[in-house]
Amino acid sequence: MVDQEPLFERVAIIGLGLIGGSLASAIKKNGLARVVVGADQHPEELSQGLKAGVVDEAAGSVAEAVRGADLVVMAVPVRATESVLREVQPWLEKSALLTDVGSTKASFVTAVEAVFGEHLPAVIPGHPIAGSEKSGIAAADPDLFANHKVILTPPEDVNPDHLQKLSALWEGCGARVLTMPVAYHDEVLAATSHLPHLIAFSLVDTLAGEDENLDIFRYAAGGFRDFTRIAASDPVMWHDIFLSNQQAVLRVIDHFTHDLDQLRTAIAEQDGATLLRVFSRAKAAREHFSKMLSGQAFVTNTNQTQVTFKLQPGGQVTGDIRVPGDKSISHRSIMLGALADGITEVKGFLEGEDSLATLQAFRDMGVAIEGPDNGFVRIHGVGIDGLQAPRGPLYLGNSGTAMRLFTGLLAAQAFDSELTGDESLSKRPMGRVADPLRTMGALIDTADGGRPPLKIRGGQALKAIHYDMPVASAQVKSCLLLAGLYAEGVTSVTEPAPTRDHTERMLAGFGYPVTRKGATASLTGGARLSASTIDVPADISSAAFFLVAASIAEGSDLTLRHVGMNPTRVGVINILRLMGARIDVSNEREVGGEPVADLRVRSATLRGIDIPESEVPLAIDEFPVLFIAATCAKGETVLRGAEELRVKESDRIQVMADGLSQLGVQTTVTPDGIVIPGGQTLGGGKVDSHGDHRIAMAFAVASLRASGPIEISDCANVATSFPGFVALAQETGFQISVEGA
Ligand code: S3P
Repeated sequence: MVDQEPLFERVAIIGLGLIGGSLASAIKKNGLARVVVGADQHPEELSQGLKAGVVDEAAGSVAEAVRGADLVVMAVPVRATESVLREVQPWLEKSALLTDVGSTKASFVTAVEAVFGEHLPAVIPGHPIAGSEKSGIAAADPDLFANHKVILTPPEDVNPDHLQKLSALWEGCGARVLTMPVAYHDEVLAATSHLPHLIAFSLVDTLAGEDENLDIFRYAAGGFRDFTRIAASDPVMWHDIFLSNQQAVLRVIDHFTHDLDQLRTAIAEQDGATLLRVFSRAKAAREHFSKMLSGQAFVTNTNQTQVTFKLQPGGQVTGDIRVPGDKSISHRSIMLGALADGITEVKGFLEGEDSLATLQAFRDMGVAIEGPDNGFVRIHGVGIDGLQAPRGPLYLGNSGTAMRLFTGLLAAQAFDSELTGDESLSKRPMGRVADPLRTMGALIDTADGGRPPLKIRGGQALKAIHYDMPVASAQVKSCLLLAGLYAEGVTSVTEPAPTRDHTERMLAGFGYPVTRKGATASLTGGARLSASTIDVPADISSAAFFLVAASIAEGSDLTLRHVGMNPTRVGVINILRLMGARIDVSNEREVGGEPVADLRVRSATLRGIDIPESEVPLAIDEFPVLFIAATCAKGETVLRGAEELRVKESDRIQVMADGLSQLGVQTTVTPDGIVIPGGQTLGGGKVDSHGDHRIAMAFAVASLRASGPIEISDCANVATSFPGFVALAQETGFQISVEGA
């Protein structure tokens, strides 16, 4: 770093408080400028800064600091900005860049315009989201910004070179930079920072004014302390912020006052349902927000928590286990439960991130949902026409199923909506649902290439269509059937090969007639759903990892309980059996319209096969782990007709081939499949799962037959479909540990 050319020649920091001082010392520590000069109205702060090495030079005046500087940073209190800018203005070099670190951005822009008039300098307002309860130069910390966000609000005509350099400066201080428009910044901060401070100040003040205030404070519980910690913040600074961000703050106060009033009414009227709905939505939203942020809905350049699986080679797989609930059925249980009349109870619900995203989205649309509590969920259905407009975009994390099914449902609602997702979901094709929905009359905007985010215009009367699906996709089929609930006439979908039929089965379970004739499923819009009870089977897609694990690891004998055996999902068992696997099925029964069974699997000598193309849609999610089985088999395995794998959470053909190659296994990738010569030794090595849950778990299974340790990176998304995977793998005999969880 220090050997490199510094980004700036001379940086002037005007105001050496906590933020200005910390920035000066971070710039110096990281060699980001040749000279850092400080100016401050308090000479003692300045000389302290010079002594402590926070700045290279202490300027006797603002003019002296600004002259010759190629970057000028305003780090003075928000309300002092304009008067200090007047001192800066005569001396600011033409080529210099001006920035600031204040909490409100429109006020800074207004001050710059007031001072500079028509001769505006190059300006990029900035706001580091970092601080401390301490203040002044004595608290300056060169690491204050490390792993914190810095928001820049560049003007539309910003010089890209300036933006790049200023971003690089903050990144050089360890911060993560994101950009947004000035007005948006002020709205966001009004809601996320300014309003909470206002409420904390106000609450403490109210309680302090009560007669029995001493007692109130004496008996105050931890909740009061946590909630009001920020009421100890600097009153002058906050008075500045509220006055400067007046309009945005007023809007959010009005919104809050209205909602608070609603809660008051609910309490006055003994309206428990409203309280439950608001509280449970808030509780879940609190948990969901952190996922949204780590899912990059908002952050542009983050080093998120990296979860790495570390596996020692070998082991045998034994025991008697039940894997978590079926993901596809869990999604649908929430959707149909929400749309039904009455209360639906679900047990065995998958508490994975994907199905939780669906659950949260329905809460955002006004549905009261209790739980999940150990897989138990109670949904207070609002009826087919009872969903309410969400307040913002619905964030669906990593879940393609949620996004595609929601698109059909939302296209038919009275309100507008927007669907967003994480980095992986944002790359997945949505044209496959948007196009047929448009022919039904839906209005849907996508980003380039039919990708998310999707903006759906409500209030459209949909008309039923018949659709011949070009790809075998249960998601597309389900999306159109959900839209069909609201369409006039008979909506029918013909599939080129059988795909999972959970939507049709569950609709029937909720009393909604669905007809199946050959490859065509159809329903007539306009009927209602009645609440039901659902017992979610264990997910065969999660069981698949253990079916392969016990098959390839010598000496294994494992029982898997209550596994969903829907005929449209059992491709993995059919394929493994063709390869010579020993899988016994017992205790076959039906729960809530879905077949389930217990499976016993023992190690076997597998052989390579030509995978029948008819099995592909029935095993569509299980190929990553089937590739591991193929690697351990004798003879060649050939997969064709599986181009769909390229548009799953990752390009599963390429990513698996790359991972296998890291372990010394050679494969031949084809456009629609792969050829895996069997009998190859799986070596140890490092594999990148590309954030794809099923790739991560497949390579964990590979360790059972590997000759050396395997390290798998980017595994956090295993929680989307299989929370508790690591514990279950350990329990059954994998030698797996996790870093960074
Ligand atoms: C799913 C359908 C499948 C599958 C996905 C879940 C569903 O996708 O891969 O994990 O729940 O409908 P496609 O239908 O697009 O193949």
